[in-house]
Amino acid sequence: MSAVGETAVNAAAPELELIAIEKIFESQRATTHALTGIDLDIAREEFIAIIGQSGCGKTTLLRILAGLVKPSEGKVRAAGRSLWDGAVRDRETVNKLGVVFQDPNLFPWYSVENNIALPLKLRGIDRKTRKTRARELCELVGLTGFERAYPRELSGGMRQRTAIARALSYRPDVLLMDEPFGALDAMTRDKMNLELQSIAAATRATVVLVTHAINEAVFLADRIVLLSPRPGRIRSITQVPFPRPRQLELETRPEFQDIARELRHQLDEDA
Ligand SMILES: Nc1ncnc2c1ncn2[C@@H]1O[C@H](COP(=O)(O)OP(=O)(O)OP(=O)(O)O)[C@@H](O)[C@H]1O
Ligand SMILES: [Mg+2]
Repeated sequence: MSAVGETAVNAAAPELELIAIEKIFESQRATTHALTGIDLDIAREEFIAIIGQSGCGKTTLLRILAGLVKPSEGKVRAAGRSLWDGAVRDRETVNKLGVVFQDPNLFPWYSVENNIALPLKLRGIDRKTRKTRARELCELVGLTGFERAYPRELSGGMRQRTAIARALSYRPDVLLMDEPFGALDAMTRDKMNLELQSIAAATRATVVLVTHAINEAVFLADRIVLLSPRPGRIRSITQVPFPRPRQLELETRPEFQDIARELRHQLDEDA
């Protein structure tokens, strides 16, 4: 097939595909069947939230999508390309993924802009380009004026914004986030949810967000994937119909609360 033909095929492929994923962790002490029979297609620019009880395999699933954990069985593809070639990760494909964890993991001795630009430095991008890009990103995530600040001088929300900006530095097609706002207070979290919505719209990134918070999932997602307890399997997928941009006031509407109540019910049934 010609190169042009391949591009056309890839453009039609889902942004992310999980096919018959199984994950079994084996250690000397125990064997844990963490995930089973996971099949999921995620479309370009889609916003997916993953919820489920503690220990059901959400982080494992996100790490599998990020290429940080290899599934025991099954396939992971990004834009039609396999993430793994045997035991080796496909670098080019993995480089299109940005990851944000619960702990922002900033380097304390680097300023905000240097933390944000670190992935660019590691990719050999010149200093001037790095600086310009870091400044753009500070504006995008609402950190203008703090470019030269150090992590210790920032609030929890600002640290997490720095981590998001860093994940966006090399313009990933996909943003994978594991409870990025879990440590924040409710008001800061609401604000971050609004900002994440704008960031997703501005960057047109595909987003996969793991969260404990049902309201956060309903507010942000196009689809919510609910995992059952271990071994985690997809229990339900809920389509969230609200138009964007969504305002916080949406959470007080009966249609919003109906969806949240149904998800709560499913989670409680599994408890
Ligand atoms: N590296 C590992 N080695 C062995 N077992 C692991 C490993 N990582 C995860 N597990 C096990 O896999 C299961 C799923 O863990 P995972 O961290 O994915 O859950 P989670 O849904 O993210 O939980 P939480 O909501 O508490 O963050 C757990 O039983 C966990 O102990
Ligand atoms: Mg987790």
